[in-house]
Amino acid sequence: MTKILVATEKPFAPAAVDGIRKVCEEAGYELVLLEKYTDQADLIKAVEDVDAMIIRSDKATKEVIDAGQNLKIIVRAGAGYDNIDLQAATAKNVVAMNTPGQNSNAVAELALGMMVYLARNQYNGTAGRELKGKKLGIHAFGHVGQLVGEIAKGFGMEVYAFDPFIAKEKIEKFGVKAVDTVEELYSTCQYVSLNIPSNEKTKKSINFGLLSLMPEGATLVNTARKEVIDEDGLLAIYNERNDFKYISDIAPDCKSEIESKYEGRYFFTPKKMGAQTAEANINAGIAAARQIVNFLEKGDITFKVN
Ligand code: 3PG
Repeated sequence: MTKILVATEKPFAPAAVDGIRKVCEEAGYELVLLEKYTDQADLIKAVEDVDAMIIRSDKATKEVIDAGQNLKIIVRAGAGYDNIDLQAATAKNVVAMNTPGQNSNAVAELALGMMVYLARNQYNGTAGRELKGKKLGIHAFGHVGQLVGEIAKGFGMEVYAFDPFIAKEKIEKFGVKAVDTVEELYSTCQYVSLNIPSNEKTKKSINFGLLSLMPEGATLVNTARKEVIDEDGLLAIYNERNDFKYISDIAPDCKSEIESKYEGRYFFTPKKMGAQTAEANINAGIAAARQIVNFLEKGDITFKVN
């Protein structure tokens, strides 16, 4: 019997698992569940005899991929697939996919929610600031970026975007001002929302030079990946400007230094939770299961990333 492993160190909501199970059962597949594991060895063992695997931020390393003797497809239920060793997957003829757009709304809502939280001094009773009328720069206008822009407009923010892979005219159809360079985005906007993937080009690309362009009252919002931040530059900007704030759903490695020195100027979620809603889990989890069925039954490779 075809076996589908759902390996989630951070489990899906139960309703999402039920939905995935239903898709598997309808296809005549068996669902194998590995949740809340703490040892990578458990994943390596679980993948041994399965045909397909659904993961979240779980690390599909070369070791994991090589252990999957029958493995044909890995679907990352979510957007970023920087946790899959694509080279190892390709070498073993394993298809890797993501489920673009399925969890984006949850991430976008969190970005705005965290912005309000910090602008209102973490609801400590003192007078804060409003988002209305402030300029928000969206760094990469993909699924999440577009929704951040949509919600921000509802707050009355003036929204700008930079995305080298999307034509300006297309961006502007969303009622957002498209800028020509990343420098223009940072020098224009008091708030910047990072919605870029983590890859060889973007790692450490958010650096001191870029952050120092931001106007007075700068707030950087990161619901993307911690790896895109140059943390030396981040600490340097904190040190140089007492108006700079950083909000992140993926705490930086230098978290304790920021926490000890810059009270009231940061907020980090305790665990990455941008996509952690029942709705996002259901959307992404079921999409992943359907993509697996479509691939195994019909050879459909839509959303293949390797
Ligand atoms: C994504 O890339 O889809 C998000 O970062 C969500 O990651 P998660 O599934 O680990 O919460």
